[in-house]
Amino acid sequence: MTRHVEPAHRLVGSLRPPGDKSVSHRALILSALATGETRIRHLATGADVASTRRCLEQLGVLIEDVGDELIVHGVGLRGLERPSETLACGNSGTTLRLLSGVVAGAGLGGVLDGDESLRRRPMRRIVEPLQTMGAACEAWEHEGELVPPLSFVGGTSLAGRRHDLTVTSAQVKSCLLLAGLFAEGETRVREPRRTRAHAERMLTAFGVPVTEETDGTLVVTGPHESLTSPEEIVVPGDPSSAAFFAAAAATLPGSSITLHEVDLDEGRLGLFQALQRMGASVTMKKVHVRCGEPVGDVVVHAAEELRAVTIGADELPSLVDEVPVLAVVATQARGRTVIEGAGELRHKESDRLATITAGLQAVGARVEEKEDGLVIEGPARLAGGRVDSAGDHRIAMAFAVAGLFTERGVELEDAGCVEVSYPDFFERLGDLLSPPTETCQDA
Ligand code: S3P
Repeated sequence: MTRHVEPAHRLVGSLRPPGDKSVSHRALILSALATGETRIRHLATGADVASTRRCLEQLGVLIEDVGDELIVHGVGLRGLERPSETLACGNSGTTLRLLSGVVAGAGLGGVLDGDESLRRRPMRRIVEPLQTMGAACEAWEHEGELVPPLSFVGGTSLAGRRHDLTVTSAQVKSCLLLAGLFAEGETRVREPRRTRAHAERMLTAFGVPVTEETDGTLVVTGPHESLTSPEEIVVPGDPSSAAFFAAAAATLPGSSITLHEVDLDEGRLGLFQALQRMGASVTMKKVHVRCGEPVGDVVVHAAEELRAVTIGADELPSLVDEVPVLAVVATQARGRTVIEGAGELRHKESDRLATITAGLQAVGARVEEKEDGLVIEGPARLAGGRVDSAGDHRIAMAFAVAGLFTERGVELEDAGCVEVSYPDFFERLGDLLSPPTETCQDA
């Protein structure tokens, strides 16, 4: 589907973003492994989390929709069934990497696969550490990397190991902590840089102590007998979905929006903090804690004038999914925005350094693609044009935001991929645009 996004004046109003995708995957997986029922509210609505749900159902877990809640009937740590068919993870790297830890740990055996994009994504980062723990896992090889499908031989049991990770990835950390639940002894995971802490928090909420050593190493001791369900989980709003509205409001003069019930994990705040440094007013007010997650409202007022910003490798994990929309905002900021240490973006749903560069060039921005980052010169008058999302949901939403500041709008190819994380993104964007209200139409 191609979608035309018209230029707009400003964003005004309030919005509750959909449930956080990372928290939703972890809530479903641990609820499935727990003893008893867990009610989950405000689960992420997109296709990625639906993939995790479907895979868990294939592993024998009953999940019911009751009103606006989901009831997961946990089967216990030893209760999963060997899947009779391939576990289809769709576009979702989180599904494939986290469930690999579970399939390996539970010694189930089975095959995990994904769509064309997921079949290009690197898996050596989980395959080799799982193999050191005793998993029997094979993967396809492509250009020197291990890629899906991954196949596990059943009947193995794992032993805890120390993992000094060389990639900064919350998915890898979470995969190994989940495997550690089943492994004999201590599983220790040390990340080069701290990433979002949702796995640690969700494990703690299910009664599993995750200890942290002074050097940041996380330790899970197994094997666990059972997980205790917290009975109810309300998933906080997704800061990565909220980011598109925050970025648009920071940039369009006269905008003022409130984003309600957003997950305010330290490891997810990078975009909001970058917008503050660029001159926008972004206020984060913590309201409560749910399943260990800090949750609150984010109020954004447009900057009088946006300034360029520098993002280095240390800050990158806190905005790893927000670089596309940050790059779009940077086109409107005075000076040179430099994003460094972002080589991991080449291994996301698309090669995001390449797809951001192509999109920015297509709308008339000044951008230079580096091996591990981007340099953007602003402010630029964006004429607009045709942008290919490359089937990457975050590229599609970032360039929908870009369309708002262009002279003649953006023709967004393959805009339907927003359903991966935010199926009603365009409707919600339409609600906040003022005036005119009808700014997005199917082309
Ligand atoms: C995620 C971690 C990040 C992020 C992804 C979700 C998670 O990936 O990009 O959208 O839920 O753990 P990496 O861990 O590969 O950086």
